[in-house]
Amino acid sequence: MKTISLGPTYQEMLNPQLLPDAIRRQAALARKNELDPANLFNISWCASDHSIRHVLLPKELTAIEANIIVLVGREFPSGSHKVGPAYATLMEGELAGEIRRGESTIIGPSTGNFGIGTAYIAKLMGYPAVVILPEQMSAERYERIKKYGGRLDLTPGSESDVILVLERTEEYKNDPHNKVLAQFELLPNYRFHRYVTGGSALLAARGRGNGRIAAFVSAPGSAGTLAAGDELKAAFPDCLICALEPRECSTLFNNGRGAHRIEGIGDKMVTLIHNVLTTDYVMLIHDDDCVIGLELLEHQQSFSERMLNLRPRALNYLLGIFGISGICNILGAIRFARHLGLGPQDNVVTIATDGIDRYPSVLQDLNRRKGPITETRLRDWFEQIYGTAGQADLLDLRPQEQKRRLFEYKQATWTRFGYSRAYLDRMQSQAFWDAEYEQISSIDEELTHSRHLAFGRA
Ligand SMILES: Cc1ncc(COP(=O)(O)O)c(C=O)c1O
Repeated sequence: MKTISLGPTYQEMLNPQLLPDAIRRQAALARKNELDPANLFNISWCASDHSIRHVLLPKELTAIEANIIVLVGREFPSGSHKVGPAYATLMEGELAGEIRRGESTIIGPSTGNFGIGTAYIAKLMGYPAVVILPEQMSAERYERIKKYGGRLDLTPGSESDVILVLERTEEYKNDPHNKVLAQFELLPNYRFHRYVTGGSALLAARGRGNGRIAAFVSAPGSAGTLAAGDELKAAFPDCLICALEPRECSTLFNNGRGAHRIEGIGDKMVTLIHNVLTTDYVMLIHDDDCVIGLELLEHQQSFSERMLNLRPRALNYLLGIFGISGICNILGAIRFARHLGLGPQDNVVTIATDGIDRYPSVLQDLNRRKGPITETRLRDWFEQIYGTAGQADLLDLRPQEQKRRLFEYKQATWTRFGYSRAYLDRMQSQAFWDAEYEQISSIDEELTHSRHLAFGRA
């Protein structure tokens, strides 16, 4: 029998005010107990005061005139916005009758946050879960997954060895009870971020500068988040989308591959759900700049304030909201805005996927790797990372030959995993992505109907 799906629609995730009053009240109470299933209705960028959770970076730090707006993902249930695509994929699987409570085991291939989101969502929705991830990710990730009752299956290597995770995932597919929330392949990830994250970014920019968005900057892992850019381009056709990669693993930049330290991004592939048609630029960011950049904002705050001639605790509001990829994103946003020469009316949007809670072990490791952190060293670091001297390593991906290179890379990966040339060819047209996006209204209708079966009209 088909499982009745209980959770928010895409529209309600973008705008939780559309939820029935009773559910909104339950969801507000559930914040006190993270394992209360009513937290499904807290999957949103929207805070309880109906604002979109975001910060504006201080101009003293960015040293540019444009507004850098950062959406803050840490307050999502489970501690990162990756819970959104995990929920959307499970919810769509239930609606399609493919995932059934009491029969299915949920499999989450991941480098961490999607796995945490998968274990969490499976727990709330009543499924056993196995999370497949590389063995060298931050210790905090494994602890969270175990806390949510997920079973861990570790593959060799680190962030950039995701291909081994995908190969292990194939083995699970041999058992029809195993249902894979395949973030790199399945389009609920695209739908969630284009509609919910993209729509939230539009709201966050409203009333700021000229109210438009000049650029969207995001470092892809699955490239789900990057899909928000498609929504921004639909609203503002001249909005530029810039993907970021670790300099140590420059796959979109020049087919490069290598190990790096920015957990969650730089997975040595062009993912299936990456709409490369709309990615205009790719920029490289040195991985340790992100780790050190986090140390400078998080543990060396008063030093950074002195460097910027700010009053004590002026940077306090940034404490805790960045992980390593969040620093990568803000460095990319600042450097891209500088490259474009944007002015005070221009807005650039980027994302902080998760917060500091997942990285104490990584910052301890930095201290161990670099030895004593002296004042001179801090000054050098600050100038190198947040200073204005450095040139951005930027590649324009708009020329046809670049698109062709990326399609070829995508094809080489995904035909190996059984996708047909015909399907991959359809992805070379924007109509493919728009048609996937347009499914949202019928999915929402079906989900609302499913909830009515369970609750009546409440
Ligand atoms: C910390 C972190 N940052 C960035 C990303 C990249 O997001 P996406 O998979 O939507 O491209 C991830 C993905 O897992 C992540 O965990």
